[in-house]
Amino acid sequence: MTTSTDMLSQLKNHRPGFTLSRKFYADPDYYRLDLEHIYYREWLFAGHDCELPTAGSYMTMQVGDYPLIVLRSNNGQIIALHNSCRHRGSRICSAEKGTVKRLVCPYHQWSYDLDGALLRARHMGEDFDTQPYGLKRVHCESVGGYIFVCVAPDPADFEPVRRLVEPYLAPHRLSEAKVAFSSTIVENGNWKLVWENNRECYHCAGNHPELLRTFPERPTVSGVMGAATDPAINGHWAKCEAAGLPSRFSLSESGQYRATRMPLVDQAVSYTMSGEPAVRRPLCDDVTLPGIGSLLLFHYPTTWNHVLGDHAISFRVLPIGPTQTQLTTKWLVHKDAVEGVDYDIDELTKVWLATNDQDRGIVEENQRGVNSPAFEPGPYSPQDEGGVSQFVDWYCRTMERSLHGGRGNLSRVA
Ligand code: FES
Ligand SMILES: [Fe+2]
Repeated sequence: MTTSTDMLSQLKNHRPGFTLSRKFYADPDYYRLDLEHIYYREWLFAGHDCELPTAGSYMTMQVGDYPLIVLRSNNGQIIALHNSCRHRGSRICSAEKGTVKRLVCPYHQWSYDLDGALLRARHMGEDFDTQPYGLKRVHCESVGGYIFVCVAPDPADFEPVRRLVEPYLAPHRLSEAKVAFSSTIVENGNWKLVWENNRECYHCAGNHPELLRTFPERPTVSGVMGAATDPAINGHWAKCEAAGLPSRFSLSESGQYRATRMPLVDQAVSYTMSGEPAVRRPLCDDVTLPGIGSLLLFHYPTTWNHVLGDHAISFRVLPIGPTQTQLTTKWLVHKDAVEGVDYDIDELTKVWLATNDQDRGIVEENQRGVNSPAFEPGPYSPQDEGGVSQFVDWYCRTMERSLHGGRGNLSRVA
């Protein structure tokens, strides 16, 4: 039996409302299938437009076996390239980010322009034709200050993502913000355990004292069900929408992405220990309504986000092995906000640095337990873990469809 057939039969036998079986969280061959059918096919969050301010600004990322460069080219457009030289394949950029005039391979100095065209190749002869040896392009889109890439030759249409999320993000003008702080950690857990942990707040009371000072643990806030019947949430939506901020719950047909604006607890306006703003300047000069809560946006399999009145926080999930996942968190503030004057880095980052570390510990213990041959799938709480069930459902349907060789819309799952 091939791994694909084995996985298909496991998916067929998956009991809805229960966790996946052990292989999905630990098996190296299953992990390869996750890469091939999810990470090598779906649109992935790379970083923010504002991190690439000028022509030649670039950032690198690793998607499974694919090293990528995301950069601003000469005409100001953001593009993505495979970070593999067309001579003998060396990685060209090894830094996490930087600014260059040209992309010069460190091995034998082949040099490429900012669109990836090969400009010069030393000692290759007078009549060497550079034209066929440009760096390979990766599909790249930008929406509301978020850059997405897709390494598949035939990516899914990005327009439905743009249509759903752009109205929510547009008022915050994140492409004009700046990244005040960035943190990358490695969690020793399968990427799906990282997501499952993110999609519920059942664990918050026992683990996140800092976060719960301001973030409501109600499943109607963090999950995908019941928000429309929660009067406090409805009142919040009405207030924000009257001020021109799209806020109502919106989930894509496929269940892959969702946007909604949720209130924080009591009078809190930001994720700080006091609930007071962490930044004196609003994130965007146009959005000054107090108490707008947090715009919650997720897009499987790489990103969840919080956009507040004073700052925004983005999270990027990239698997680096069957039981290892990289999590990058970025804090965005108004581009003119001054560190030490308008905000203090420790105050800005305290709650989510603590929360990420607590989640890392949780995920790592989850992984250790799931690795046990005695582990068998357990039931999700119908009250608190609807969001987890929805994620696992999206994963199962996406894998099943892709293993069968197809794409196309999934039925609505929430
Ligand atoms: S591998 Fe890049 S120049 Fe030789
Ligand atoms: Fe958590």
